[in-house]
Amino acid sequence: GQLGMGLAEMLRKQYGTDNVILSDIKKPPPHIFRSGPFVYADVLDYKHLRELIINNQITWLVHYSALLSAVGEANVALARKINITGLHNVLDLALENCLRLFVPSTIGAFGPSSPRDPVPDLCVQRPRTIYGVSKVHGELMGEYLHHKHGLDFRCLRYPGVISVNTPPGGGTTDYAVQIFHDALSTGHHECYLRPDTRLPMMHISDCHRATVEFMQAPECQLSLRTYNIAAMSFTPEEVAQEIRKHLPQLKVTYSPDSVRQTIADSWPVRFDDSNARRDWGWAPAFGLEELVVIKLVYQP
Ligand code: SER
Repeated sequence: GQLGMGLAEMLRKQYGTDNVILSDIKKPPPHIFRSGPFVYADVLDYKHLRELIINNQITWLVHYSALLSAVGEANVALARKINITGLHNVLDLALENCLRLFVPSTIGAFGPSSPRDPVPDLCVQRPRTIYGVSKVHGELMGEYLHHKHGLDFRCLRYPGVISVNTPPGGGTTDYAVQIFHDALSTGHHECYLRPDTRLPMMHISDCHRATVEFMQAPECQLSLRTYNIAAMSFTPEEVAQEIRKHLPQLKVTYSPDSVRQTIADSWPVRFDDSNARRDWGWAPAFGLEELVVIKLVYQP
């Protein structure tokens, strides 16, 4: 999906093409299929996952399958299946086969009763979406199995991720990907959030680098198993303004969607990532200005 393909590319550069296997339940674009090993895998099919792990001598598992926030609200039963049952399969397999397991969490793991500006690693987490509830469940299950059985579980709470060529699907932060596409094509973006809705965001290359650096960090450096990672926070109005420095004709209209606006209003506006910076040296490369330049000038 949005994140797996780029992460595989980064890992393959470091560990060799044949040592990183991508999987999905959907047919990938031809260039992905040709770029290295790709297999069909359904997170709900436990026996088949086990077969893949054993036949390929898998040692690390990166679990990116999930329904995102807005689409999860539209199909709660499916979100529960993929995000919770799928995760249980992966946790059991990781434990059974001594895998190092990475599972992303999200700004969506917080809710209206969490501190918002900034949100620390440890605080009240009472999310109001099935996506958020499943992610808190994942954080807790992984940490439980780590403490009880020594599972090498690692989890980063990602901000909204601004991808390059791969569109996200059904998130609340996705406008921040779409606005670049619209700015370069029609010159008009209709935003489903209010202009002043501030959310934590990150360029996808920072997200991949954080994931690899965190996976590679020696155990003894980790004081937590779940960390916030931050890069920037902006509102639709601010990103539009920054884009207009390069494309002055960009027009943005606002038509807030009540589901996504309510979700966004319950999420933190800023991440406190001081533990990640201290424990394993996290530092983002892209702020808003750099993000806009790379999206518009170098990698449209
Ligand atoms: N990008 C996700 C979403 O908007 C948040 O993790 O649902």
